[in-house]
Amino acid sequence: MVQTPRIQAVPRSRRWRAAAPLVIAACLLASVPAMAAAPAKPARLGLCAACHGETGMAQIPAAPNLAGQKLDYLREALRQYRDGRRNVPLMRTVIGPVSDADLDELARWYSAQTPSSQGNP
Ligand code: HEC
Repeated sequence: MVQTPRIQAVPRSRRWRAAAPLVIAACLLASVPAMAAAPAKPARLGLCAACHGETGMAQIPAAPNLAGQKLDYLREALRQYRDGRRNVPLMRTVIGPVSDADLDELARWYSAQTPSSQGNP
């Protein structure tokens, strides 16, 4: 009489043990896209960081914060400076004749940053 619940408990715990690797594998798989989305530090970032900060929080009063700004907006803004549609000599000079791929890399970097309340002058 007492044995009945114990017999039922054994297969249930075996099922859990069998499922554990699947759960771990699912977690690992789920984390892959997040890792892939984190952009590598762009080679040209050093120059931008002087004014916009490495994490997109401005270092000088005249520069805007870029952290967490929409990717499409940043990409388009950079193209506009490069192509002269935004005629701001400072940013035009700094950007120079940069490729779409480089602009994209910079836009992705700043877009992926988290804005903070610190770093504003
Ligand atoms: C000497 C300081 C300085 C440097 C260096 C600099 N910027 Fe800027 N950036 C500015 C200023 C000032 C503005 C505002 C210009 C305006 O009024 O449009 C600006 C504007 C921008 C904007 C538009 C933001 C918006 O909200 O519209 C983007 C994007 C940007 N910079 C990206 C960059 C990137 C990427 C680099 C490096 C290649 C860079 N900047 C280097 C000073 C700088």
